[in-house]
Amino acid sequence: MKVRKAVIPVAGLGTRFLPASKAIPKEMLTIVDRPTIQYIVEEVVSSGIEVIIFVTSAGKSAIENHFDYNFELDTLLRQKNKPEIYEEVRHISNLIDIIAVRQKKPLGLGHAIWSARNVVGDEPFLVLLGDDLVLSDQLPCCKQMLNLYEEVQDSIVATQRVPQEETGQYGIVEGEQVREGGHKVLRMVEKPAPGTTDSDLAIIGRYLLQPDIFPLLQQTTPGHGGEIQLTDALLAMSKKRPLYAYEFEGTRYDAGDKLGYLKAIVAFAQRHPSLGKQFRKHLKEVCASL
Ligand code: UTP
Repeated sequence: MKVRKAVIPVAGLGTRFLPASKAIPKEMLTIVDRPTIQYIVEEVVSSGIEVIIFVTSAGKSAIENHFDYNFELDTLLRQKNKPEIYEEVRHISNLIDIIAVRQKKPLGLGHAIWSARNVVGDEPFLVLLGDDLVLSDQLPCCKQMLNLYEEVQDSIVATQRVPQEETGQYGIVEGEQVREGGHKVLRMVEKPAPGTTDSDLAIIGRYLLQPDIFPLLQQTTPGHGGEIQLTDALLAMSKKRPLYAYEFEGTRYDAGDKLGYLKAIVAFAQRHPSLGKQFRKHLKEVCASL
């Protein structure tokens, strides 16, 4: 079945980014000239997805507003004869159909995805975390996953290799290699202490899931950190049908973390069509002075 929908959970509290995220959703913090969430939505759009489902919470209305049509702004920009900005702003509201559902309590990523079950229905779907950016030289990360899905027709988690001392920051996959860049998942463990796993395959914020995940999420009890963990439901699913770990081409940035956010700005600014050249020159000067 074709993958038509993408779920983007944005209902988390963003405690790692306080105080900036107290009144502004962390997903709305700017990377060069657009909010983090816009890059994620653009990745989804360029991968051919038709509908986005935001899982939101109180205080996150700025995210929906950003992708909405704003009549007053539209009229003002036309009156002021600013065609480029006008086009840019219009483009954002025309990107894709967006549906929002509420996660009533921040009970974890697994619970956030479960909150979208009635809108997703009985079809495979993508999940992209609202603060996880991937820069790729070739295809968007989602499109790479969709291509693999066409072959395997089973759930996929995007992974990257991490240094052993960082395993405690990720969900780690243990599996057997079945193709280049592809493993069949045998075991998953949420944030294992360094040295307690042989694997360095870390799950990042992109998933392609079969709808069988919903009943498994419903049965999942709170795990690591007292939250309903997607990893626990995925592990249960991997016992019933194949689950693949895919080493995507590209670099991932955790823009929900202060250092990850800074790294993302440096990476995206260097590639920016109008600012990139000047920024790279500035960066060289900064590096030379260090
Ligand atoms: P994070 O763990 O990065 O988000 O979840 P968080 O809980 O907002 O962040 P910290 O750790 O307190 O700083 C990854 C994604 O899942 C969403 C977040 O909004 C983020 O985009 N999420 C997380 C939910 O939608 N609901 C939750 O209950 C938890």
